[in-house]
Amino acid sequence: MSLTIGVFDSGFGGLTVLRAILPRLEGKLAGTRCLYLGDTARLPYGSKSRETISRYAVSSVEFLQQQGADFLVIACNTASALALDDIRAASSVPVLGVIETGAAAVASISQTMSALVLGTAATIASHAYSSALSHLGLQATEKACPLLVPLVEEGWTDHPVTDEVVRIYLGEALASAKNAPDTLLLGCTHYPLLRQVFARHIPAGMKIVDSADATAARAAELLLPLLTASAPTVSSLTGVSLTAPSLDFYVTDSPTQFQQLGSRFLGRPIDDVTHVALPE
Ligand code: DGL
Repeated sequence: MSLTIGVFDSGFGGLTVLRAILPRLEGKLAGTRCLYLGDTARLPYGSKSRETISRYAVSSVEFLQQQGADFLVIACNTASALALDDIRAASSVPVLGVIETGAAAVASISQTMSALVLGTAATIASHAYSSALSHLGLQATEKACPLLVPLVEEGWTDHPVTDEVVRIYLGEALASAKNAPDTLLLGCTHYPLLRQVFARHIPAGMKIVDSADATAARAAELLLPLLTASAPTVSSLTGVSLTAPSLDFYVTDSPTQFQQLGSRFLGRPIDDVTHVALPE
């Protein structure tokens, strides 16, 4: 038996989660597939209402299940924050979102039990991160940073304008912060690409948690026992060449644009991308 992992995002950003998952799976098994769906025709999700985000996300994960996904990773912070219950209700397979995993990663390192959370307007308005953190006994100061997604998509990850925007957002967030946050939680798929910029502007000693990385680690924790139990494993000791998961990319808008922009998020070239039309 092999496993098909479906990764869903509103667009390109979830490739940061796939990028973090792949090295954890590579060489561990034969025959695993990763499907990635970017709902590029309907992005951004971060400025939309809960009802719209939920409708889009549910139709997207239904597509991934039709393609054979038997484990779903909701890489999009906005969809995880606003639609995870609806997605789970519409899914017959296990679903992992980024909110609980990101919050758990913060809880494992924060000493002041206080975190600063940055995300899209919809994610922050949902207070999904602050309620996940509060379940773990932590306080959160939340800040919507709507300018950062377009800046990253413009390729301005190392640009004075982005540097200044991050400085202003962080300054405002820290000025209103409760209980000396010692951890910054990057609650949006695009923010890992700005990690160095955040690092320049946070107070000395503040740690950065990336929800993409935390989710990839959790996905690997859940999947690897299944894979080694069920798939024909390969090992460098046997002399059999190790197998990387096969990758299939689907988008709801231009495949060419996804190939160009997506390769920056994935950190490797993207060859084949299939266009799909999803029901409204
Ligand atoms: N993927 C979204 C998130 O992580 C950011 C892009 C969007 O707004 O659609 O919140």
